Amino acid sequence: MKNNRSPIGVFDSGVGGLTVLRALMRRLPHERFVYVGDTARVPYGTKSPEAVKRFSLEIARFLKKRRVKAVVVACNTVSAVALPELRRFLPVPVMGVLEPGATAAARATRTGRVGVIGTSATVRSRAYEREIRRLNPALRVFSRPCPLFVPLVEEGWLTHPVTRRVAQLYLSPILAKRVDALVLGCTHYPLLKTVLKSVARNVSLIDSAEETAKSVKRVLERKDLLARSGRGSGVFFSSDDPDKFMALGHRFLGGKLRRVRRIHLDGV
Ligand code: DGL
Repeated sequence: MKNNRSPIGVFDSGVGGLTVLRALMRRLPHERFVYVGDTARVPYGTKSPEAVKRFSLEIARFLKKRRVKAVVVACNTVSAVALPELRRFLPVPVMGVLEPGATAAARATRTGRVGVIGTSATVRSRAYEREIRRLNPALRVFSRPCPLFVPLVEEGWLTHPVTRRVAQLYLSPILAKRVDALVLGCTHYPLLKTVLKSVARNVSLIDSAEETAKSVKRVLERKDLLARSGRGSGVFFSSDDPDKFMALGHRFLGGKLRRVRRIHLDGV
């Protein structure tokens, strides 16, 4: 019997990764999760790869001390720029959101033209593009950073006319390329599905949170690490004001967070 009752670490630059945790909790109801949101340093999407790697390794050090059996990198930006470093550092399986999203997109497209939207750091890294073309070199990928989406979601403007207008402006160059699958390559974007669906009609929206949850389940099964009984749970850590995390977090998790603890990440 392996350490199946050990928790799974999930982390993000802030509260956005709770969309991934929500999908994970739905699909893996017996697991115990430890979630870390680096709200003191969010956003990561505007920072350099070096800074994102350093912050991520600090969080990884914290999760390692909590003896997690696996780590899910819920942040697209971290998945795009820091996965190899995290895999080298952590002695447990490390799964990002990028590979599952890319795989689903490569499978969904009929025209062979895929769109990717994400933070500036994610798009600049070209990690989605590389992964999609590794899966199928015949596919064409058109990417676009959408930096205003994160603050709009955090403001709660999920279906606001301003958000709709911003979405039209961001997506029109990609839609002009006649993509038929669009990867929502950022933790916050699944919350904009209503607006994105109305702007990108007849385009399959790829929710990397859902795809990641499916893929994490498969990996845990394969490695005999899946918890098959017992009550699932979540404990939450935030590097800035826990009350703020709690207030914002419920929108992403789709439920109330009972308790959030403060952590000091610097030099963990
Ligand atoms: N969590 C980030 C991502 O998925 C979005 C917020 C940020 O820029 O830190 O890329």
